[in-house]
Amino acid sequence: MTPQDQLKQQAAQAALEYVPAGSIVGVGTGSTVNFFIDALAGIKNQIEGAVSSSEASTKRLRAHGIEVLDLNAVSDVPVYVDGADETNAHLQLIKGGGGALTREKIIAQLAKKFVCVADESKMVQRLGKFPLPIEVIPMARSMIARELVKLGGQPVYRDGFVTDNGNQILDVHNLEIMEPAKLEAELNNLPGIVTVGLFAIRPADVLILGTANGIRTLT
Ligand code: 5RP
Repeated sequence: MTPQDQLKQQAAQAALEYVPAGSIVGVGTGSTVNFFIDALAGIKNQIEGAVSSSEASTKRLRAHGIEVLDLNAVSDVPVYVDGADETNAHLQLIKGGGGALTREKIIAQLAKKFVCVADESKMVQRLGKFPLPIEVIPMARSMIARELVKLGGQPVYRDGFVTDNGNQILDVHNLEIMEPAKLEAELNNLPGIVTVGLFAIRPADVLILGTANGIRTLT
């Protein structure tokens, strides 16, 4: 395991503390979350089940014998655990490196508590070095790309990638994200955009960072 993976695993393990007994757990997507799913398997008899943000996470949860419920059948998700591509000190995030941003944002919205797990390399002063993923309806891709250029970004089509929802992804480089929530709201208004990978209007509630000196928790 790489040192970075060890930090991801530490953070993921620490998130178990936030899982209430008898609850339905919201589960994100990515390599850090994979460590969380593996840790969750150790307490699977203490939870009711999970709701999942991607086909990949669903598969891993089921392989561990954890029941995955349809989100439409669930009204109460006490905790959602997910990773991030970048986080700032306000726990505003860039997500979607794995392309699961839409379902991630839906579960984050429903969850009472959003616990973000990451290794310390994900913490940045200002969001935007990581290209901002945006899920778009295929027919709107070029139109949206032109709008993003007007905003100063350089959108790159994630060629060959189709989201779990049948859509496409633009990864937007070099955007100056001075006011994350404002930009998120602005982009949300463009028809054809399904989801913006900025999680700023609804940031995480808790950030668990795996660091070389142990776990660092921010709220
Ligand atoms: C997937 C995501 C992931 O949370 C993000 O890409 C971080 O992934 P990893 O834990 O592998 O570093 O948003 O859509």
